[in-house]
Amino acid sequence: MKYDFDEIINRRGTSSYKWDKLKELFGRDELLPMWVADMDFKSPPAVIEALTERAKHGVFGYTARSDEFYQSFMDWVMEKHGWRIKKRWVVDSPGVVPAIAIAIQAFTNPGDKILVQTPVYYPFFDVIKNNNRKLVTNELLYVNGHYEMDFNALESEIDGKTKMLILCNPHNPVGRVWSKTELKKLGEICLRKGIIVVSDEIHSDIVYSESKHTPFASISNDLAEISITCMAPSKTFNIAGLETSLTIIPNNELRKSFEGRLYDQLSLKLGNIFGIYATEAAYRHGKEWLDELLDYLEDNRNFAIEYINDNIPGVKPVRPEGTYLMWLDFRELGLSDKELQRLMIHKAGIALTHGPVFGKGGEGFQRLNFACPRTLLKRGLKMIERAVKELKDD
Ligand SMILES: Cc1ncc(COP(=O)(O)O)c(C=O)c1O
Repeated sequence: MKYDFDEIINRRGTSSYKWDKLKELFGRDELLPMWVADMDFKSPPAVIEALTERAKHGVFGYTARSDEFYQSFMDWVMEKHGWRIKKRWVVDSPGVVPAIAIAIQAFTNPGDKILVQTPVYYPFFDVIKNNNRKLVTNELLYVNGHYEMDFNALESEIDGKTKMLILCNPHNPVGRVWSKTELKKLGEICLRKGIIVVSDEIHSDIVYSESKHTPFASISNDLAEISITCMAPSKTFNIAGLETSLTIIPNNELRKSFEGRLYDQLSLKLGNIFGIYATEAAYRHGKEWLDELLDYLEDNRNFAIEYINDNIPGVKPVRPEGTYLMWLDFRELGLSDKELQRLMIHKAGIALTHGPVFGKGGEGFQRLNFACPRTLLKRGLKMIERAVKELKDD
């Protein structure tokens, strides 16, 4: 391996949400954080070099994105996902969640209903509710340790007030990389019912060897016309702190409304200079690093599944096809959610993301982020193992 993903990097005291907010969010500072979705690895050397060189320039005035910036993204989407996008479809955005919020404001009205498939990334709930839209949840089906979409229930949830679906693909937290067949079926319902689809594809580059990501909008022109696709280099190259994402909107009318909200009403025209440089460097030169990262993460995933199955009875891991997040089923332990959270924080000493925050279907689950050096992953799993064992011995 050319890149060292085993290196343990001290992130405490670096303004890290994951490591420096533990006391405030979990009540204790000395926890092992395996919660929020960023990685404990350095970004690709090409990104660090591009940022260092730009920092040395020393002038950080207002920014302009070059043609090469957009081309690097368009080439990446073509090479990685086989989707040829046009430059005019791409709109800049400061982050995926802000882009989703803007889409909600641009394409729906207060009181309109917006669908999500739970358990799901919980900021979706906040942006819907905080914009005075009505949250409608459609629970995924959990069948034999595997998640599927519940198309019948989803369709029956839709009425004249339902205007939008926020799709999570790959899905956080259950790790599904939705197949083309599943997406087509979902798309047919949305086309038939006149629903706009915001497809959050932030995890699309983190997909394991047996799966393939399909951009929802790439399936057909009809689906492209009703979709807003959110992509970003932030998860892929561990640059979430640079707050740069890209939104793809092929439909001219939808794009104009989105741009009107983003550029004219919110005046979010110019990006962060470091985000721009890091993004272009990552998309141009980060492929080899990403390939090695994916091998490392896949080994971490397989290691964690085997370790839990062999050593932690009562806990069932859901095998993620994509994302570096593992959804753990603790329901066999028979604990309430409060008891389970207390067990993880006060007995195990680990900060995981609490299942119920992901909405219906999250009860009895916790989400583990395995994007860390293997020694840390082993330590975290051992901590869970010990706490569960003590519980059984009590
Ligand atoms: C599905 C999903 N969407 C969006 C985000 C955050 O995106 P951003 O930081 O660009 O707002 C995350 C981060 O964990 C995520 O998992």
